Amino acid sequence: MRGLLLFLLLGALAAQAAPSKQSKPPAGPFKDAQCVACHGPDSPEVQGWRLSKHGVLVRISTPGRAPGCVDCHGAQAHRPANPEAMGEVCGKCHSPRYLDTLAANGRRMVAVGEMKQREALALLAQARRRFPAERLQAMEDHYHHLQTHLRNIRLGVGHQSPDHQWWHGHPALDGDLLRIKGAWDDLLRASK
Ligand code: HEC
Ligand code: HEC
Ligand code: HEC
Repeated sequence: MRGLLLFLLLGALAAQAAPSKQSKPPAGPFKDAQCVACHGPDSPEVQGWRLSKHGVLVRISTPGRAPGCVDCHGAQAHRPANPEAMGEVCGKCHSPRYLDTLAANGRRMVAVGEMKQREALALLAQARRRFPAERLQAMEDHYHHLQTHLRNIRLGVGHQSPDHQWWHGHPALDGDLLRIKGAWDDLLRASK
């Protein structure tokens, strides 16, 4: 059951993975330091992990106590974290009941983010039908940010990073949605 839940959670996350850049990923194997250096220490994927309890423990505790990039993604880079192996990976150090709870929370968190995205997209679609593209810049920009923040939520869930689930995730996404609504109201008011 635990394996299944994690499989569902991580499978859903992997299926939605949006390529952030066009560049072709290199072939591994790599060590953690290489993953970090190439993705960039300030990238959301590295920052999220670094700020998670795991990332902190890897820096300050005994080696092997908490997982780094390779433990979860494998050394052959550019495979998304293997959903089927995750139950096993996390189960080495955490109890099944704990992992079930995390999986359920993670699914909910992503689902709520997607709900907000659908709400924003519905408004944007109306605006695209009604107004010429050059007047939609503000809404399009906010929608672009919203997608970045939704990715942060997915990363925050995958990397168990409260910072990316929250600061860089849900509240930021709420702000985008509010701004999209505001921009939509502005358009309507200006067209009266
Ligand atoms: C030499 C540069 C480089 C190294 C080293 C590297 N990556 Fe990447 N990685 C990339 C690029 C380029 C991409 C594709 C563009 C993107 O998604 O940002 C990518 C994409 C990814 C993706 C997304 C794959 C997908 O299916 O969407 C994951 C996950 C990933 N890398 C993890 C890792 C891990 C874990 C390591 C270390 C084991 C690693 N990378 C090492 C450059 C690198
Ligand atoms: C505790 C396990 C774990 C660790 C440690 C970990 N990851 Fe991840 N990572 C995941 C999971 C789970 C996901 C979400 C599933 C997915 O989108 O592939 C994810 C997602 C990603 C993605 C996003 C892929 C996308 O499509 O947007 C990248 C890139 C990535 N990790 C790179 C890294 C790098 C680099 C490190 C080390 C600095 C690292 N991860 C450490 C489990 C882990
Ligand atoms: C190599 C062992 C190891 C693996 C593998 C591992 N963790 Fe951890 N994890 C730890 C340790 C150690 C802590 C710190 C526990 C503490 O607070 O004392 C921790 C903390 C956490 C926390 C934070 C708990 C808190 O109280 O803040 C979460 C969430 C978490 N792990 C989830 C996962 C998930 C999900 C996976 C698999 C994707 C995973 N872990 C894999 C060792 C591991």
